[in-house]
Amino acid sequence: MAASPDADDVHMAELPLETRCPPSPLRRYGGFWWPEPILPGVVAARARFVPRPSDVFLASFPKSGTTWLKALAFAADHPPRAPDHPLRCRNPHDCVEFLEGLFALSPSPVIRGGDVFAAHPSPRVIATHIPYLLPERVTAEGAGCKVVYVCRDPKDAFVSTWMFAKKMMEAAADADNNAPFAIEDAFELYCHGRSMGGPQWHHVAGYWDASRRRPEKVLFLQYEDMLRDPAGNVSKLAEFMGCAFSDGEEAAGVVRDIVELCSIDALKNMEVNKNGGQLYVKNESFFRKGVAGDWRNHLTPAMAARLDKIVEDALQGSEFTF
Ligand code: A3P
Repeated sequence: MAASPDADDVHMAELPLETRCPPSPLRRYGGFWWPEPILPGVVAARARFVPRPSDVFLASFPKSGTTWLKALAFAADHPPRAPDHPLRCRNPHDCVEFLEGLFALSPSPVIRGGDVFAAHPSPRVIATHIPYLLPERVTAEGAGCKVVYVCRDPKDAFVSTWMFAKKMMEAAADADNNAPFAIEDAFELYCHGRSMGGPQWHHVAGYWDASRRRPEKVLFLQYEDMLRDPAGNVSKLAEFMGCAFSDGEEAAGVVRDIVELCSIDALKNMEVNKNGGQLYVKNESFFRKGVAGDWRNHLTPAMAARLDKIVEDALQGSEFTF
């Protein structure tokens, strides 16, 4: 490991660097590859975030269904009762913030020195792409915090990652960042674990193991299973988060309403998600196809078999298979 993930400080320039995975250079830290702009936030969060027993973390490898999970968890916590639900005017990423993102992007050095989540009221729902290297304060037996992890077929996560990177590069084209990013090159890097948050299979394995050891605190969901049975997964999620629906709410169709509100078609067509967002990350870029198996349209059978084998070998002994 290039640096201790417990360090409060990170000497970025000393960490292994990968510049071939746009949109950001990646640095290897704690066995994983991180976008350079986010890594200080990861380190700061690990050092200074103060968890509360009521916290719920939504964890994921990038492009694995994070946006959907954020929407579902937020809606489970704030069931849609009126037509003006916050998810109709805010992107899910503005409803549930990233732990490392807020620590990284907080503009005030004073705030950056402390815990940027301290002012958030309980119970807090907080997202993260950090692998199962969360601070011990969060994962310790007595901490009380819960974690919901969503994993996705690595082949679809790869394609989604590549598409997302290309979108960001197109958005930044006028900013001198328009070099082509061939899928073959991206795939080669991905197979070596070189992508945001990679290696994907180590990310998944950490949370899978944790969910086996502490099922009452770590809920492991699969994107493909959520697509197959969204209602069942919403009920499971709400129960796990401690906001199970009453019989009355169930009878009134709350689960159906949440599934509909958070469906990719509904979210994609909301004004805020069609036209909102930041300069290089438009809200619409979080909603593409939202299906299982799109890799078939982009990877050759040989590429798919190669990635499957890498993942299978890496997960051997973990009792988890995709
Ligand atoms: P595709 O690029 O395969 O379409 P993340 O939210 O972790 O960035 O993952 C993005 C992926 O989730 C994209 O996959 C996106 O289309 C899909 N997605 C976003 N919102 C979704 C939703 N409400 N339901 C299902 N999939 C969704």
